[in-house]
Parts: sequence; structure tokens; C-alpha cells
Amino acid sequence: MSRRGERARTRSWPWRSRSYPRAGTAENGRPPSTAHGDPGDGNATLIANDDERFALCSTRAATQEIVLSSGVLAPDNTTLAEAIGARRALFVLTPTVDQLYGDALRRYIGSVLERSDSEVFVLQVNETTKSLSAVDVLAAHASGMGLDREGPLVAVGGGVCLDVVGVSAALYRRGVPNIKIPTTLVGLIDAGIGTKNAVNHGGHKSLLGTFSAPEASLLDPTFLTTLPERHLRSGVAEMLKMAIMCDRTLFALLEAHKGELLRSSFQAPREEGTEAIRRSVTEMLRELSLNLYEQSRRRIVDFGHTFSPYVETASNHQVLHGEAVAIDIAISSEIAWSLGILETEDLEAILGALASFELPHHWAGIDPAAMYESLRSIRQHRGGELHLVVPSEIGRAVFLEDQDISLSLLESCVARLAARGSRVLK
Ligand SMILES: NC(=O)c1ccc[n+]([C@@H]2O[C@H](COP(=O)([O-])OP(=O)(O)OC[C@H]3O[C@@H](n4cnc5c(N)ncnc54)[C@H](O)[C@@H]3O)[C@@H](O)[C@H]2O)c1
Ligand SMILES: [Zn+2]
Repeated sequence: MSRRGERARTRSWPWRSRSYPRAGTAENGRPPSTAHGDPGDGNATLIANDDERFALCSTRAATQEIVLSSGVLAPDNTTLAEAIGARRALFVLTPTVDQLYGDALRRYIGSVLERSDSEVFVLQVNETTKSLSAVDVLAAHASGMGLDREGPLVAVGGGVCLDVVGVSAALYRRGVPNIKIPTTLVGLIDAGIGTKNAVNHGGHKSLLGTFSAPEASLLDPTFLTTLPERHLRSGVAEMLKMAIMCDRTLFALLEAHKGELLRSSFQAPREEGTEAIRRSVTEMLRELSLNLYEQSRRRIVDFGHTFSPYVETASNHQVLHGEAVAIDIAISSEIAWSLGILETEDLEAILGALASFELPHHWAGIDPAAMYESLRSIRQHRGGELHLVVPSEIGRAVFLEDQDISLSLLESCVARLAARGSRVLK
């Protein structure tokens, strides 16, 4: 064996283990021979284990503010101005959002922001072009305008815009501050409040991305008034995900006011609309706070996100993200029912809730064998295990593993959903 191989066998890598002590301590019983520095933000503790091995141990503090505020672009609303302060910002919008809100934003920049030389950039990007090329275009613009390390890069848009800007902010000059202003329901309750940002790559959904918390998320439900109903319903799928996993009250609230909430874009009944958004955001934040960097791969918020990447990619994104999530919710619930984990009554309540928001439970293009094969990539993403999260009742969940899921089980579940007929996407 080579000297290198011998060393690899006989030496341990304590800093690779999760139980490695916090910098500067000796909790593992092996005191560092040398330790310098305070492991606060921006500092690392240098540990010299011997003459050849060193470790830099650090933690990085991050505070993300999440603010619910109606009418963030109104001249008398100072939330955004306060978030940006004295910095020269670059706002990024996609064309539709520019058409709807670009003028209001430019007026706000000109009359309310401290730096009226902040810029607006309209980025041509959608789900099918959400890739590193979009990041490239944005970085070129940021560099051209001389955006410095203080940033901030401010995304005003749906999940696609938030994701591309989030990745760009993490990469540009090795990281500049990012502010998220979601304008879709998916953005408000999911993409706009998390720490994850990703773009698609090589036919894989969200293959390249970062964990980087935005400095602030400004949540303004009035943006939803212009959102097309199909995209609104898509967002409801993410809401139902949270409700089915951990909040029976939210589930009941959505069921009780479904028609009006959908017709009014969650503006009426006012209290219930706001409450539904607030509950979804709070549940999401609670789940994130327990596992911000996904060190645990068993994530309740992955409900609806195991089969959905296959559906989105196989449909060439003709099935929207939220619609794919709805289809996945149906498949996962059907699996739970088949295995005797979920009662018939709860399965019907879940499928009924999808139907009441006119969400699909099946896409006609599903090939169960290809979908089963796609689980290989999901396992890679979840550290080698499937960790399929399914409901055991409304408000509670369990995790299933490979031995629980066979191709024939998947085939029968998909066939049963297809046979239900209505709410099948062609
Ligand atoms: N990073 C994360 O944690 C995370 C979480 C959930 C979803 N996502 C990603 O988000 C994307 C889906 O987000 P989405 O559903 O917001 O889609 P989207 O960003 O494509 O927006 C949907 C459509 O609505 C338009 N739009 C946006 N705001 C509008 C408004 N106020 N009025 C009218 N039209 C408006 C957009 O131009 C677009 O055509 C997917 O790519 C998904 O992977 C990321
Ligand atoms: Zn999602």
C-alpha cells in the first residue's frame, strides 16, 4: 500500500464528524495543540493537530428577517427603504413583473430610497431557462453597473426569479446580500423565505444551488391580486403540503374558505386569507429552523417533492411546480393508504382538498417505470436513502424507505389515481 493510503487508513478526520467540538474546545478528549482566534462571525479558530494537519473551525452567523407588509411598493411604506438603507441596490424583475410593477418600483426608487441611483434589471428567465446562463447574464449586468460587495441584489418576482437571484447573490463577488420580495404564492410561503436557491442543470431540476439565507424577505400578499389563477392554485399545493404535514387547523381553514380564497387571490375573507398565509409561513419557518442546512435528510417539507421533479422534468415544465407537487401529494398519500398507514377517510380528504382547489392528482404522461428510476437521483440528494415522507393522518407524517416502495406499488397507485378521471392533467 502506498504511504498515502496507509496514512488514510491510520489517521482519522475528526473535523469531518458532526461531533467535532466547537472551535477552541476539547470536548472530544483530544485537545488541540494550538488554537487561535474567536470563532465568532468572520473569525475561525485555527487548530494544529500535529505538524502536518491543521483545521480552521468557524461558524457563520446569519439573521434573516421575514416581514409581512402590505403594499411594499407604496410610497408611504418604508419597509423596503429600511431594508436597503444607504446601499445602492440592483433590483431584478422578470418581464411580466416589470410590466405590472416596474413603474411603481421605479417611482419608489426615485422618491423613497436613499440611493435613487439604484437600478432595475429585467431578466428574461422562466422555468425552462432557469440555468447558470441566467446567472451569467445577471452577473454581467451587476458587474457592468459596478455593484459592490455591499449589494444588495433584490429579487422581485416568483420562485424562478428568487432562485436565480439567490444563486447569483451567493456567487457574485463570492457573496453579496440578497433581499427577496416574492410576488407569487409559491414565493410567499416557500421559495421566498427559505435559505435554498437553485437552478436547473443538465436536465436535472435544481441540481446547482446554494444554501444562503437572504438578509430579508418582504412578504406582500397584495401582489397575488394580479397572479393568474393557475399559478395561485399552484401555490395552494405548497400550502396544502404544510397543512397535511403539520397543521390540521390550516387544512380546515383552507377547506372552509376555498372558493372565496381562490376567487379573491387570498384577499378575502381578509382575516382568513392573511391567516392562511401566516400559518403556512410560520410552519415552514419552524421546519426550516430545525434543519436549516438539511443536515437531517428526513424532511417533512419534502412532502410532495419526491416524484414532482420527475413530473416537472418529464413534462418539460408544462406541468407547473405546484401542480407537480399536487400530483406528488396524491401519489404519496395513495402509497400511504396502500400500505395501511393512512385511513381511507383521510386519503379522500386529501384528494378532496386538491380537487376543491382544482389541482391535479395525476398527469397523463407519467411512466411509472421512469418515475421509479428517477428515485435514484432523489436518493443521491438525500444521502443515499429514500426518506419518502407520507401522511399518516392529516397533520402527521411518517417516513418510508426503499424496502417499502416497489415498482408494482407505484404502478398500482398511479393507476388508481388515473382511474379517478377528473383532475387529470393531459
Ligand atoms: N428555493 C426554494 O426553496 C424553492 C421553493 C419552492 C419553489 N422553488 C422554485 O420556484 C419555482 C416556482 O415558483 P413560482 O410558482 O413562483 O413560478 P414562477 O416564478 O415561474 O412564476 C409564475 C408566473 O407568474 C408570473 N408572475 C409572478 N408574479 C406575478 C404577479 N404578482 N402577477 C402576475 N404574474 C406574476 C411570472 O412571470 C411567471 O410567469 C420553481 O422553479 C421551483 O423550483 C424554489
Ligand atoms: Zn416546492
